[in-house]
Amino acid sequence: MSNLEIIIGSQMGSAEYVAEQLAEDLESRSISCNVHEQPDLSNCKSDTWLIVTSTYGAGDYPENLLPFISQLQAQTDMSRIRFAVVGIGDSSYDTYNHAAINGEKLLIEKGAKALLPTLKIDVLDEALPEDTALEWLPEFSEIVTAS
Ligand SMILES: Cc1cc2nc3c(=O)[nH]c(=O)nc-3n(C[C@H](O)[C@H](O)[C@H](O)COP(=O)(O)O)c2cc1C
Repeated sequence: MSNLEIIIGSQMGSAEYVAEQLAEDLESRSISCNVHEQPDLSNCKSDTWLIVTSTYGAGDYPENLLPFISQLQAQTDMSRIRFAVVGIGDSSYDTYNHAAINGEKLLIEKGAKALLPTLKIDVLDEALPEDTALEWLPEFSEIVTAS
């Protein structure tokens, strides 16, 4: 059975809800998920990560994700990690989905491997962001299971 860490960045609950839906779907595909609402690197034992985050401020990470991002910034080699990012943002901001984009960039700089390009969900377009994420999920799940 595959095992992964779901890392949530959310202030008002939308990204958290999407992450919970993804976790439920992944579990039904026999992929065991540890869901982190207050992510801490020391609790992420699996090398496979799914980051689900919204964006705040001028392209900032949600507050609950900031300590985790600081922990990542302090790492020198994250080549053992493979990951994907789902971003939930609002395209009326110039900094559309910047937390997702910058999170992906940071992990790649540290040597981690992106399994798929970041999925960017626009709350202006998508009435139900979880539906878009669930449509994307099978591709991610196949990669995780196959490797
Ligand atoms: C104060 C504020 C600032 C925001 N800044 C951005 C931003 O810079 N870029 C973006 O893509 N979305 C931005 N958003 C939109 C949120 O990311 C979006 O509403 C998201 O669904 C919130 O998710 P959450 O409920 O998980 O926190 C902002 C929303 C608020 C309320």
